[in-house]
Amino acid sequence: MAETGHIPVLLPEVMDVLGAGRGGLRVLDATFGGGGHARAFLERGNSVVALDCDPEAAERARDLERAFPGRFSFSAVNFERLDETVEGPFDAVLFDLGLSSFHYDTADRGFSFRHDGPLDMRLDPRAGMTAAEFLETADRRDLIRAVRHYGEEPSWRRVVAAVEAARGTEALRTTSAFAQLVVEALPRRPGPPPRIHPATRVFQGIRIAVNRELEVIETALPKAFAALAPGGRMAVISFHSLEDRIVKRFFRRAAGMPEHARDSAPQQSRKVSAKLLNRRPVTPPESETAMNPRARSAKLRALEKRTD
Ligand SMILES: C[S@@+](CC[C@H](N)C(=O)[O-])C[C@H]1O[C@@H](n2cnc3c(N)ncnc32)[C@H](O)[C@@H]1O
Repeated sequence: MAETGHIPVLLPEVMDVLGAGRGGLRVLDATFGGGGHARAFLERGNSVVALDCDPEAAERARDLERAFPGRFSFSAVNFERLDETVEGPFDAVLFDLGLSSFHYDTADRGFSFRHDGPLDMRLDPRAGMTAAEFLETADRRDLIRAVRHYGEEPSWRRVVAAVEAARGTEALRTTSAFAQLVVEALPRRPGPPPRIHPATRVFQGIRIAVNRELEVIETALPKAFAALAPGGRMAVISFHSLEDRIVKRFFRRAAGMPEHARDSAPQQSRKVSAKLLNRRPVTPPESETAMNPRARSAKLRALEKRTD
């Protein structure tokens, strides 16, 4: 399958909020992907230390190593291990979460029901179990968490029952067979065909479970914050409400604010170690989503670490 490239999301907004325009910053790009944000930092005269858990990103990173010698380095490591991998302090940190277009466009990575391939879905094919192995072996509680909680699939009961019934068959081995199983498990709804493929939510939930996507964000945010220089800035782009909730709560905690409506901890028990750079998440303008539909659900949050 031909690779079509990845368009970086909210690019001017990220450069602006991280103050990258004047150059001279030492930046940690925790999610290199296709290198669009990294290149923009480098072109503005900053240096970049980049991570991506997908070893295929290393190939793309080589171009930047050649173009910006001495100012760019890359490690194929999960950002949950950033404290063991990179040395701070950084003036800016960026997380642009989720998948790149390379993942959706490459059939044998198993992320897309549009291309038939093995049901893999691992961002790092060197580690962990594939989606097919997860579906074959997960206990019911983990299946429900993936389909109901992460995927937010309203008909989760039917999907979980269909997965359990299909164990040991071909239906759990390839993307198209599994998409078909989900479509057949879901109730038929009257009216026009749905705007999104009926298996979208289930695929997303299983992907989040297979890659432990929420846990690794919880682990990495405090590590990234610790690696920030005083006065340094951190920006996170998320694409899923559960991701954004983790980011929002972490940022509010760092800013000494209640994390959510029921957080009634006394104000004097809170530590203020950062200030929020935007009260509400920044979302892409219509001109961007018209050109790049993947940007539609993007939310950017940013903070600045205190200097004292
Ligand atoms: C949305 S893409 C980033 C795109 C990039 N900003 C660009 O401009 O091309 C997200 C990337 O983060 C990587 N990724 C996701 N979770 C990760 C993790 N836990 N550790 C390291 N990289 C991760 C994915 O492999 C993917 O390449």
